[in-house]
Amino acid sequence: MSLGEWPEPIIRVQSLSESGLSTIPVRYIKPSMDRPIISSDPDHISIPIIDLQGLDAEDDNLRSSTLNQISWACREWGFFQVLNHGVDPDLMDRAREVWCEFFHLPMELKQIYSNTPKTYEGYGSRLGVEKGAILDWSDYYYLHYLPSNLKDCNKWPAQPSSCREVIEEYSGQVVKLGGRLMKILSINLGLDEDRLQNAFGDIGACLRVNFYPKCPQPELTLGLSSHSDPGGLTFLLPDDQVPGLQVRKDGNWITVKPAKHAFIVNIGDQVQVLSNATYKSVEHRVRVNSGQERVSLAFFYNPKSDLLIEPAKELVTPEKPALYPPMTFDEYRLYIRTKGPQGKSQVESLASPRCCNR
Ligand code: OGA
Ligand code: NI
Repeated sequence: MSLGEWPEPIIRVQSLSESGLSTIPVRYIKPSMDRPIISSDPDHISIPIIDLQGLDAEDDNLRSSTLNQISWACREWGFFQVLNHGVDPDLMDRAREVWCEFFHLPMELKQIYSNTPKTYEGYGSRLGVEKGAILDWSDYYYLHYLPSNLKDCNKWPAQPSSCREVIEEYSGQVVKLGGRLMKILSINLGLDEDRLQNAFGDIGACLRVNFYPKCPQPELTLGLSSHSDPGGLTFLLPDDQVPGLQVRKDGNWITVKPAKHAFIVNIGDQVQVLSNATYKSVEHRVRVNSGQERVSLAFFYNPKSDLLIEPAKELVTPEKPALYPPMTFDEYRLYIRTKGPQGKSQVESLASPRCCNR
């Protein structure tokens, strides 16, 4: 199946927001069960925060306690924040600033980069191509960093003038962090340290910058509907001023409180598949608000798109047969690219209650 054009004319949510309307168009109103309820947030719970400095410690106890914290966070949460992760804090600030500036450029300059569902690269305002779908209250920019044959800097914004340089440097550093965490996850799963990386092959890496404009009726909509990330691992640089990301935990939506210069890391569906569900990708969504806009950078660390991804053989036993059939990431991500964010319905629909040992 190939994706061609958008089914309807694209409306920039930022333009809607800036037009000063006091009620949102029906297209953005979620069914009542999906609307965010402000009071349901248990305030005392938050996702784990892990200092990665311990990984390089001479002290074996400190190293193994850090490994254990990561292991626990992957099993219990699928979502955690990391500190001292090796990405330059100043670069993180610059990356956020440059993207904030981009979204405040005049609309005609942004429209040059308008995307289509064919590759999704560029400036976009919807995910999914179903006509009449209910839309999310956000615009975004999506670009490829790896593999190098897909990287096309001409599809990255030429303005602000430092944008391309900042993306390049930022992406390079986040990819390094990704490689480090892949080793840690392999070790924690009891595999050779290069096992997950080898399964991923020559990785794909892409950046999705989310822009959530102010919304006059935030209780009726979402900035990004509930979804799990289809890829491998996600490194999210959240807005440092405005909360909004919520993670689903035991049926509740927990609002993440970002720590300064931390990355929010989460497990994607491909790691759920490779780990044969020892690690699970977790549903998350974004709320918007009437007072402040929000910008976040989601960096996706993915398998090579045409390799078959399946549960690691070492983790498949008679007691725990392979839960998922082999599938390439190209095939896998067509689902979200067609239907838009739909909770965890895709990975769950693939999970087989029966043994699919071959
Ligand atoms: C995403 C995502 C969260 C956020 O882009 O996949 O979950 O806080 N973003 O913007
Ligand atoms: Ni996400």
